[in-house]
Amino acid sequence: MHDVKTSVFVGVSLDGFIARPNGQFDFLPAGGGEPHGYAEFIATVDVIVIGRKTFEIVLSLPEWPYGSKRVVVLSSRPLDLSVVRGRPVEQMAGIPAEIVAKLAAQGARHLYVDGGITVQNFLKAGLIQRITITRVPVLIGSGIPLFGPLEQDFRLQHIATQTYASGLVKSEYQVLYPGE
Ligand SMILES: NC(=O)c1ccc[n+]([C@@H]2O[C@H](COP(=O)([O-])OP(=O)(O)OC[C@H]3O[C@@H](n4cnc5c(N)ncnc54)[C@H](OP(=O)(O)O)[C@@H]3O)[C@@H](O)[C@H]2O)c1
Repeated sequence: MHDVKTSVFVGVSLDGFIARPNGQFDFLPAGGGEPHGYAEFIATVDVIVIGRKTFEIVLSLPEWPYGSKRVVVLSSRPLDLSVVRGRPVEQMAGIPAEIVAKLAAQGARHLYVDGGITVQNFLKAGLIQRITITRVPVLIGSGIPLFGPLEQDFRLQHIATQTYASGLVKSEYQVLYPGE
């Protein structure tokens, strides 16, 4: 099996939320806001792995945001994927290491993992290498957090931070797992 890289690329409120309590993310700049590297990032990704809750929100968007990229939706319950007929969307479930191993065996080289719970599970399993967080200058007070409780600390190496005229602050980190 060849190496597969796993990344997170996410926008958060300054107080660390990826969505409001109802799942909406209207506090993020419309249309992705000032270009901050998403197009360049997504061009390097071959499989997008999202949690079921993110998938439900994506379905409510006016346009399918992933183009012709392969999308894997994680859920422990049967999903009705007929709503995305014609798109390369499939369902998987199980422990993150097995999901990554399966995708790697199928030739995937760069996975984009998205959704709060999903990111947390992959991180705890030691399967996220890069985290790029774009902080949006707004406080929303409550919502769905990007990160959550951990049984141990995770150290990260700061790679780069860029600031944008519109107030976005993008920071890229490498996750350092034990032994690194
Ligand atoms: N700000 C941003 O850039 C950004 C990006 C992405 C998402 N969001 C927001 O984040 C919210 C969703 O995040 P979330 O933390 O609530 O949930 P999530 O991570 O999108 O979805 C969680 C669900 O994914 C499924 N799942 C995850 N790992 C699994 C595994 N290994 N095997 C089987 N099923 C697995 C489970 O579904 P079942 O319960 O069906 O088993 C779980 O309940 C949405 O509101 C979305 O708008 C924001």
